[in-house]
Amino acid sequence: MADDTKKSNGIAELRRKAELKIASQQSALEVSAEETDAKRLLHELQVHQTELEMQNEELQRTSRELQVVNSTLEEQVADRTKELSEAVARLQEEILSRKQTEADNLLLQQQFQQAQKLDSLGVLAGGIAHDFNNILMIIMGYCGLTKLDYETAEKHIPQIEKAVERAAELCRLMLAYAGKATLSETHVVMWALVEQVVHMLRATIRQNVEIKTHFSPKIPSIRGDASQLKQVVMNLILNAAEAIGEAQGVVLVSLAKAVIKPEQPVADYFGKTIPPGGYLLLEVTDSGCGMDDESMRRIFEPFYTTKFTGRGLGMSAVLGIIKAHKGSLQLVSQPGTGTTFKVYIPAQISATTEEQTVQPSVDEQWKGSGTILLAEDEVQLALTVRAMLEELGFNVIVASNGKEALELYHENAADITLVVADIGMPIMNGYEMFRELKKLDPKLPIIISSGFGDDEVTVALSRDAIAGLVSKPYKFDLLRRVLKSVIEGENV
Ligand SMILES: Nc1ncnc2c1ncn2[C@@H]1O[C@H](COP(=O)(O)OP(=O)(O)OP(=O)(O)O)[C@@H](O)[C@H]1O
Ligand SMILES: [Mg+2]
Repeated sequence: MADDTKKSNGIAELRRKAELKIASQQSALEVSAEETDAKRLLHELQVHQTELEMQNEELQRTSRELQVVNSTLEEQVADRTKELSEAVARLQEEILSRKQTEADNLLLQQQFQQAQKLDSLGVLAGGIAHDFNNILMIIMGYCGLTKLDYETAEKHIPQIEKAVERAAELCRLMLAYAGKATLSETHVVMWALVEQVVHMLRATIRQNVEIKTHFSPKIPSIRGDASQLKQVVMNLILNAAEAIGEAQGVVLVSLAKAVIKPEQPVADYFGKTIPPGGYLLLEVTDSGCGMDDESMRRIFEPFYTTKFTGRGLGMSAVLGIIKAHKGSLQLVSQPGTGTTFKVYIPAQISATTEEQTVQPSVDEQWKGSGTILLAEDEVQLALTVRAMLEELGFNVIVASNGKEALELYHENAADITLVVADIGMPIMNGYEMFRELKKLDPKLPIIISSGFGDDEVTVALSRDAIAGLVSKPYKFDLLRRVLKSVIEGENV
């Protein structure tokens, strides 16, 4: 409405201006009294034409103005587009540089981890070399002394055995750390095992530390590796005693049954839910120094130690063993108050009652007979085992690799009662030899003697097919026990 009024006002104004212009042009002309209609019409036309000319001018001006506005707008759009593409280019550059930084960081991290690993390996290798050198020195020393006077053998051999035990212990720790902890799985009488460890440690740890035990009347039976579980109990008690230090203190070792229900989830040390089910719960509590946050966080890190003489391998081995037994671990500690470790080992499904049997007694007089094929590539070791087997009443045929063992078996099949085989051998290893021999005679008993974790052996070969397992280094007693059981048809 307002636009229409403005427009009609504009038109009226235009007409007024045109009329004025024409009037001024005509004022000079002589106008006769008898103006004709034609003259008036002409006047009208002139006015109209002038109006149109003026409108045209106006339009041209507006068009020019529009052109100016248009070009300004175009310039602005071009500027903005330029700005935008510059911003995009900058962003792309930034993304690229970020990606590069991320890649650099990753590389640095990997290099750092690699360096740490190498560092750890260096510490590990150094530690092992140091310990082994000492052990070898002891063995060599006593051997030398015995050679001078064989009468002293009785006194020296137990020292040599002790040194060998130390070396074996070191190897077990290494295997556990490598996550190859589960060795020969058997029923483990846990209370007897704890008793045994406590008995041994009572004699070695300081007098100011009292070790108490508490066993629930019903302890679930478990399957596991007795020697590895011994490591767990021993490391936990040793750490507890070491945490008490010089002060008067108590270490309480208890065994009980624990049931974790699905509706009441329980988290382990790592915050992972412990699978529901029945467990044997081993608890070791000490009244020692406790741990600060850093120790709590790093306790399972291999080589983490706060002790002057510590290697920092005890707890990483404990963790490896618990994991291998599909168990879980919890830890509560308070600086100045003490620490409690809870170890959950899955109970056997069928039996939840206490086990009766302790170690089967070894018949020290037991002797066998017949021929044993011994496959062992290390000459000195083959000689030692051969001597042990002969001492037990067997004839021994020695092969230095799997292929030779097969050949010797072909030649002596009728005489050979059983085979004792190493795993790592040149030309044909123990696994392959085992399979080939079983093809020839599925009933042939084969005892595996290996330096690897038995876990690896039982992964590669079916446990049922193996007549017995002896982990190197093994004692004469163990070899006798395993042979006796295999020959008498017991399950080892
Ligand atoms: N019961 C405990 N109380 C307080 N601190 C503990 C306890 N158990 C472990 N720790 C801490 O955790 C660290 C790592 O323990 P771990 O058993 O792995 O190594 P270590 O005892 O130092 O050496 P080793 O290899 O001889 O066992 C210890 O040095 C100690 O600081
Ligand atoms: Mg320790």
